[in-house]
Order: sequence, then C-alpha cells, then structure tokens
Amino acid sequence: MLAILQGGAYNVREATIGGITLKELAQIASAVQVSSTMAMDALAKQMAADGVDVVGFGAGEPDFNTPDHIKAAAVRAIAENITRYTPASGTAALKQAVCRRVKEDFGLDYQPSQVVATSGAKHCVYIALRALVNPGDEVILPAPFWVSYLELIKMAGGTPVVVSAPESARFKITAGQLAAAVTPRTKALVLNNPCNPTGTVYTKEELAALAKVCVEKDIYVISDEIYCGLLYGGVKTASFASLGEDIKERAILINGVSKSYAMTGWRIGYLLSSEKIAKVMANYLSHSTGSPGSVSQAASVAALIGPQDCVEAMRRAFEERRNYIVSRVNTMDGVSCVKPDGAFYIMMNVEKQLGRTLHGELIQSSDDFSAALLKHGLVATVPGSGMGAPSFVRWSYATSMDNIKKGMDRLEAFLRG
Ligand SMILES: Cc1ncc(COP(=O)(O)O)c(C=O)c1O
Repeated sequence: MLAILQGGAYNVREATIGGITLKELAQIASAVQVSSTMAMDALAKQMAADGVDVVGFGAGEPDFNTPDHIKAAAVRAIAENITRYTPASGTAALKQAVCRRVKEDFGLDYQPSQVVATSGAKHCVYIALRALVNPGDEVILPAPFWVSYLELIKMAGGTPVVVSAPESARFKITAGQLAAAVTPRTKALVLNNPCNPTGTVYTKEELAALAKVCVEKDIYVISDEIYCGLLYGGVKTASFASLGEDIKERAILINGVSKSYAMTGWRIGYLLSSEKIAKVMANYLSHSTGSPGSVSQAASVAALIGPQDCVEAMRRAFEERRNYIVSRVNTMDGVSCVKPDGAFYIMMNVEKQLGRTLHGELIQSSDDFSAALLKHGLVATVPGSGMGAPSFVRWSYATSMDNIKKGMDRLEAFLRG
C-alpha cells in the first residue's frame, strides 16, 4: 500500500511503501490527473463485465472494425518479417503516404523530411509541446477542450491559458479573444478542428482570422486535425497550414489513423511541420518511445494510400447517428445540444438539471449528473468538468444506432426523475 504523507504542493514529498520511506515523486508527474474519459470508459466496461446492462457513450472510439484491406496489409507485413525497428520518426513509406494524403485532402505540399510518425496522435501532441514549450511558457487552449490537452501542456512544463468558447458562439473562439489572451510568454495555441468534445468546425475564414493573429503575435499553433475526415451536412473547413506560408512555418499539424480508419488500437499518429521542428521532435522520440510499431506503420500506409470509400461509409453512418441523437436530445425537457458539424460527440447542456434531485441524488454539477445517469439510468457519459465545460455532459455517438436509441430512451426515462 502506498501511503502518501502530507506536505509540498502536490502531497508527494514522501511516500511510504510497506514501511519503507522513499523520496518524493516528481511533482509534475504526480500532479497529472486521471483522464475522465478513460476513467468513465473503464468503469462502464467493468460494469458490463460484471453483467450490468450499461450502454457506453464515454469512449471516443469508432465501433467499426478496421477495414479488411488495412488488416491484410498488416498480415502481409508480418509474413514479410517487417517486424524490426524502423527509423524513430517512421518509415519512408509511411512519411510518403502522409505527404500524399495531405496533398489530396488539403492541397498541402510537405516533404517526407517534414513528417514525424508516433505511437498515436496523443503522443504527437505531447512531443509537439515538448518541442515548443519552455518551463513557464503559456499555451492558449480554447474551452471546452479534449481532456488530455490541459494535462499535456502541464506535463511539458507549460502554463495553460484557457479561453472560453461559449455555446452561444457554437463553441468557437474569435480572433479578438485570441489576440487578447496573448502575452509576452505565449508560445502556442492548441486548436482542435473539428473539435472533441464539441464537434465544432471552424470555417476557412474563421481559421484565417486566427492564423493572422498567430502570425502577427508570432506564436505557434498545434493544430490537431484528427477528426478532419468526419464532417457533416456538407460543411467545409481547411487545414491550418493551408492558410499561408507564414502560418505553415508556425504550424504543427497533427493527425492519425485512429478515428478516420477505425484504427485506435494500432497506435499510429503523425505530424507535419517545418523541417527544423520535425528534427527536434524526431530526436526527442528517438530517446523516448523509439519507433512506432512496424506492422502498424505498414497497415497505416495501406490506410492512407488505399481506397478511401471506407472512410466515407463510416462518415455517413456517423452523420445518421448525429442527426438522430441531436433530434432526440433536443426534444427532451431540460437538456439541449448544439448540432455539431464534425467529429462524433455532442455536448449536452445540463444547466437546467443543476439543483434538481433525480432518483434521490442531488445534481449540483455535471459530475453528479453523469454519475447519477450511470447509476440509475445505466448510461455512461463523460462530465464536462474535466473539459472546461462544467454545465455540459459529453456523449460520444461512435456506437451503434441500437445503442444510441437505447441510451436516448434511458436518458428520457432518467430525466423524468
Ligand atoms: C482531439 C484528439 N486528438 C488526439 C486523440 C488521440 O488519438 P490517438 O488514438 O491517435 O492517440 C484523440 C482521441 O480521443 C482526440 O480526441
């Protein structure tokens, strides 16, 4: 048993394990909070394993299987003994495939020397921050935000500066807000477009206005575009780096195969940047994770340069689910949501539920709401408190239509109290 003794900023000055007193653990690491998304997902999976009929809307993970041609490429790679270390920043084949994809999708010209492949896009965000941030540098983060950004900024020694993107503005920040948040210590903006958790998609013009501020104020942008393949209702957006040479130099684009190709378990993400930044990140990787998995890289090449109709088929299914879940939520009393244009999440506004007692539970926060909904409605969601959105609950609709219908019926019954 680990008994933490009081003292110091993070209560980790000393730890006693089995009667042996040890020196304090690292303060930055000890301050890292558990991911609320992963915690909720683990709890729902545990309940299901225990035989409870819980419906999970917590995980941001497509329920589709990885397409067959991608799996076949992995099988071939194993048969051909592509099972050894690769260069730390990825194989030449993967880097070329990434360049081809961004050219086709966004008209972007990048060279393989500007590409870095990692073990998942989450790690891309981490090494991008590691490449840019000195201790105490400020990093601007629009809220609501993906839970990991806040922790990753702190893990890199940075100071998050949270800028509110209210529901009334469809969860978008303006160029004026961005400019007002910049100080002499600002190093970067982290922008997620399309956004987890809100599904918000910025127009090209809105992005151009943000890019102008980044160039004028000379700050970098970490542009996480991992949901770029999931846009609905014919909306269009742009890649941040396509907005001009000045911003391209300052942009680190992040993407990966997890969401568009239903490949969450394969753990391949990639980033594109100036050659100088790419080299720093590659060096960092070479001493931390080393190369990403060789078989997964081969599979990702097949995903990126192979037929793209699988992406479109999944996108269409997500759009149908989005339409359904949004219309159901917005017909219920006391909850509502904005119709998102991308990704696979809705942010349900639960402000009107605060102060109510539901099924004997006093609801004072989105955490209380999610906990009560899980306990009494057997529906797993993620409270917005960890995402800078305390009056909201996030639903991932990356689950079957049957589950969504069941979840909505249960929510309706739960809200009746
Ligand atoms: C915005 C965003 N970026 C990155 C990731 C991580 O993707 P990966 O599975 O490639 O690590 C996620 C996953 O939920 C995400 O929502």
